[in-house]
Amino acid sequence: MSGFRRVEVPLGDRSYPVVIGHGAVAELATLLPTTARRAAVVTQTGIPLEVDPGIPFDVIEIGVGETAKSLTTIEQLCRSFARSGLSRHDVVIGVGGGMVTDVAGFAAASYHRGVPVVHVATTLLGMVDAAIGGKTGVNLPEGKNLVGAFWQPSAVVCDLDALDSLPERERRCGLGEMAKYHFLTGDDLLSMSLPDRVARCVEIKAEIVAADEREGGRRALLNYGHTLAHALETATEHRIAHGEAVAVGLVYAARLARQMGRIDTARVDEHLAVVAGEYDLDVALPAGLLAEQLVELMHRDKKALDGLTFVLDGPAGVEVVAGVDEGPVVAALDEMG
Ligand code: GLY
Repeated sequence: MSGFRRVEVPLGDRSYPVVIGHGAVAELATLLPTTARRAAVVTQTGIPLEVDPGIPFDVIEIGVGETAKSLTTIEQLCRSFARSGLSRHDVVIGVGGGMVTDVAGFAAASYHRGVPVVHVATTLLGMVDAAIGGKTGVNLPEGKNLVGAFWQPSAVVCDLDALDSLPERERRCGLGEMAKYHFLTGDDLLSMSLPDRVARCVEIKAEIVAADEREGGRRALLNYGHTLAHALETATEHRIAHGEAVAVGLVYAARLARQMGRIDTARVDEHLAVVAGEYDLDVALPAGLLAEQLVELMHRDKKALDGLTFVLDGPAGVEVVAGVDEGPVVAALDEMG
């Protein structure tokens, strides 16, 4: 496998490799479970990567956009798996961005009470975040990712060739999640080559997932910037994409931390310099949203432990803070303009 980077997600007997590099999809057949006699390839129209699992397979296309990230799609997928005779020893292969791998993963977790899944991530966001770590799920009208399961893949492929044709907006979404890793580790990811950068993000995520697979504690740090981000996605009916919303949410989280006296203005400015400056991402709140609507949505966030819950910077670094008062939450929203 020379030339490809290989990062292990160390989870005991459920450990798995993430293979990263230009042309890495050629490794797919070698990464499937040896029990698999048939594969169901779940993808979307326009995904810029051909896969050859090396065993008989059906291709099932799901809809594009957050509205297709639904329980209806899971039912359709599971019915397709049943019609194609997929057994619990076979394999589902999710080929696409985070939406595809979240949906394919949840269908795999549910069908026959769990069949193996391998992800082939084709977007930057999928490679550095969504395809790694076993979170799967779909949206409800009431909120994002409210139904799902932890279901680790058997392997993940990040073929960097897929990024050649990645639309600019999708690229910025991946950068939003990378900026998050900047604040969790202080790593200067932008100074690295693309393969090193993706591999480093995978390493950071793998280390956190290995320490806290089911988000009993430390894994919640991966939600830095996400409390407001998820509210923005729901409030705008997904006109703002996840990674774009995370960029806004990171700056908001810094403003909230300052409102609560956890960090100073210089640290807020550092967030702005990294997210809006180095990563060149838009950090303005989308127009026309009401603070009270966002606060209500943040109350409903599935991470909420005790009242409003955020991941916030502070003297001891980034940590989960529950029971945050509405006063600073609204004041920080006002600061966002
Ligand atoms: N995307 C956050 C997590 O996987 O925990």
